[in-house]
Amino acid sequence: MPTYAKPFLREIALKRELIGTYDAYPFSIPAVRELDHLEFHPDVTFLIGENGAGKSTLMEAIALALGFGPQGGTKNVQLQAAGDVSELHRYLKLVRGPARPRDGYFLRAESFYNVATYMDEVGYLGDYGDKSIHARSHGEAFLATLNDKLRGDGLYLFDEPEAALSPNRQLTALATIHDLVRDNSQLIIATHSPILLAYPNAKIVLLDGSGLSEVRYEDTEHYAVTKNFLNNHQRMLRHLLD
Ligand SMILES: Nc1ncnc2c1ncn2[C@@H]1O[C@H](COP(=O)(O)OP(=O)(O)O)[C@@H](O)[C@H]1O
Ligand SMILES: [Mg+2]
Repeated sequence: MPTYAKPFLREIALKRELIGTYDAYPFSIPAVRELDHLEFHPDVTFLIGENGAGKSTLMEAIALALGFGPQGGTKNVQLQAAGDVSELHRYLKLVRGPARPRDGYFLRAESFYNVATYMDEVGYLGDYGDKSIHARSHGEAFLATLNDKLRGDGLYLFDEPEAALSPNRQLTALATIHDLVRDNSQLIIATHSPILLAYPNAKIVLLDGSGLSEVRYEDTEHYAVTKNFLNNHQRMLRHLLD
């Protein structure tokens, strides 16, 4: 049994004393502007919210503050970002737990392939199941990373891990997440997936126009919209397509 106590990351807080103006990105995003402090669940914390709510901005800032590169991967992968990286990470205070994680990975759907290319180039494939991740489908590469690369005792950040996964593979990912949690890991996951969000040992944080708030699974839009649609898809289609 692991002897390390979770959480590795207790909370983040905004260093307001350093911020001059809230007029410009990233401070203009309500989820950043209203961020006082955000406490993480020892197992899994989900960030949810509409497109543009600030999930990736916040994930990236947490990742950079922890020492990950902007495109993701392990901390050994320090690929510069293709586009702009926000300055938010310089304004985040991290409150860590007593123990240090032994493993870590920042999985970013948007730049996963760049990280994959880098891994190919440096010949560092042993932990990806000994097969170039480009020789796999996007979803297979994602799952290979989850299953083969992550060792446990880790702090893992995933931004939309479901992007390439079929519903069945999302169920597999759910089981993998549970295995990691049982192996003494803490995860922070930005997602739109009503399947992943069902994970029970978790806190769900909604980012919206009024800031950040905790919600129950059954009260998320993801749950309600999906359930309603699947139960009434013919009626809803008539309404939507008329
Ligand atoms: N480099 C940037 N410069 C200015 N605005 C940005 C930049 N990156 C993202 N934004 C804006 O910040 C908001 C939050 O984006 P993002 O964090 O990607 O949202 P999410 O991941 O929740 O969909 C969006 O309105 C987006 O257009
Ligand atoms: Mg995003």
